[in-house]
Amino acid sequence: MRTVALVACWWIAVAAWATLQNPPRPPRPLPANLPEVNPYASDADLEIGRRLYQGRCGHCHGQTGEGGRGAVLNAGRFRHGGTDRELFATIRNGIPNTEMPAAFNLPDIEIWRIVGHVQRLGRQGSPEQSTGDPAAGAAVYQKNACVTCHTIDGAGGLTGPDLSDIGAKRALRHLRESVVDPGADIPLDYRLVTITDRRGKSISGIHLNEDEYSIHLRDVDGTLRSFMKSDLTAVALPRQSLMPRYASLSAADLENLVAYLASRRQGAKDRGVEGSTDLREASKDRRQGSQERGERSDQVVWMFDRLENIGGHPTTVLGNPRVIDSPIGKAVEFDGIDDALFVDDHPLAGAEQFTWEAIFRPDGGEREQRWFHLSERDPVSGQDTDNRMLFEIRVAGDQWFLDSYNQSGTAGKALMNRTALHPLREWYHVASVYDGREFSNYVNGTREGSAEIAFTPHRQGHASIGVRINKMFYFKGAVRLARFTRRALPPSEFLRRTMP
Ligand code: HEC
Ligand code: HEC
Repeated sequence: MRTVALVACWWIAVAAWATLQNPPRPPRPLPANLPEVNPYASDADLEIGRRLYQGRCGHCHGQTGEGGRGAVLNAGRFRHGGTDRELFATIRNGIPNTEMPAAFNLPDIEIWRIVGHVQRLGRQGSPEQSTGDPAAGAAVYQKNACVTCHTIDGAGGLTGPDLSDIGAKRALRHLRESVVDPGADIPLDYRLVTITDRRGKSISGIHLNEDEYSIHLRDVDGTLRSFMKSDLTAVALPRQSLMPRYASLSAADLENLVAYLASRRQGAKDRGVEGSTDLREASKDRRQGSQERGERSDQVVWMFDRLENIGGHPTTVLGNPRVIDSPIGKAVEFDGIDDALFVDDHPLAGAEQFTWEAIFRPDGGEREQRWFHLSERDPVSGQDTDNRMLFEIRVAGDQWFLDSYNQSGTAGKALMNRTALHPLREWYHVASVYDGREFSNYVNGTREGSAEIAFTPHRQGHASIGVRINKMFYFKGAVRLARFTRRALPPSEFLRRTMP
């Protein structure tokens, strides 16, 4: 009974927290008449821009743009675009899911003045270069077991931030400091909390959220844990990092390690990393997906490599889905009884054409299972409408077949081929494709059904994985990733399953 209450409480708390932390960001399209070239670039404007920069940006990007907690701005290279217009967009809208804040409250003229100053910083050139050897640094990284807490290119632990792109985000100075003195600058998402229960037992973890009655953390094993405050004798938020200090590394090891971290950037060549291009491509898509979310990019990837956040969206977790290491990488496993994830986004809202792909493994269980559901919501009442897209399966003995369902208004169609049977407990790629006229579904690139349907785009909504959105027909099996593309892809462009 108590567990049920606790789980319910956790669920409500997370939902409330998610809304608090991520109030729906109003889409801020750039004004149609936004000039290509900075209209406020006189010397007087630049001087105001310099002062604004020093007050608002310098503590992250360094007073001369040398970088720090924020990206290097004096190299003349901007990953998010270096034209006046692109810089305007970055500075006004921020970069979603990073620490780069938006400046919604600044008038356009002030933003232009900052753009002018940032352009001037960019022309200075000469960012600091590392003197270390990245290959030797990779060995230092291995030897010190950094991988138990950090992920690079999809491999590693979840306690600390993903470091795949760290070299592009942070300056050398910050990387060096992060290793020898991790407590100096702790990203907000990684604050440590230590609780003590009535028996005097202490547990530490990353602080996820808390309310008047309960507190939630992620411990070092990556497990989400919830406590009723009435059961605790102390809750402490030490300004301390979960990451150990590596103060005793030799100067050479440290420089090599920093060189290795600095070389981790999106699109970096010659990473020497094992693994498939597909998944590396996919995680690049994932980053792009979340960065461009404000403008709705053409393609978004959701990796199921963690529970608390999928595709850049905080989740609501039901039951106890688990992150597993499968032969094709991390995935989330559902027990077929009460495990599910809810994500507050409908990644295909507004799409006139689409390709919805997923890589999953059905493990048997009940005959009818709804394992991936995208639902439209009525913007006024907030209730789910009937408009939905679904991946379902039917289990038949030791085999399964696919059922894909699409509905919008009066148009609805289920594609189900009872004779296309596949063995259970293997990894599959499935796709649902709509080209504006015809709706088709595929298993491992082979078309299993198709029908004409007049499908109008969905409005915004939400998604559930592991169950139907009304919490019926739970799924037994695992999901590795999903990719949503706003056009009809031919099977030759589908993701591959990437077997070991
Ligand atoms: C709290 C720290 C923080 C503050 C304050 C901040 N930034 Fe950033 N900024 C970042 C981080 C971190 C990134 C890198 C994000 C990423 O791509 O992962 C970034 C990225 C950028 C980029 C994109 C760089 C590129 O390579 O394309 C620009 C431009 C930028 N910031 C300008 C500014 C300006 C101008 C201000 C002040 C108005 C500002 N930032 C304030 C942390 C900050
Ligand atoms: C016990 C888990 C743990 C281990 C082991 C660990 N880290 Fe960390 N690391 C963290 C956490 C948690 C953070 C975020 C809080 C902070 O910045 O202190 C972090 C932050 C960082 C950052 C800053 C990231 C950013 O976005 O600014 C870097 C760089 C880093 N770690 C590198 C390393 C390296 C290199 C090693 C091995 C020598 C290592 N870590 C070992 C947990 C760990």
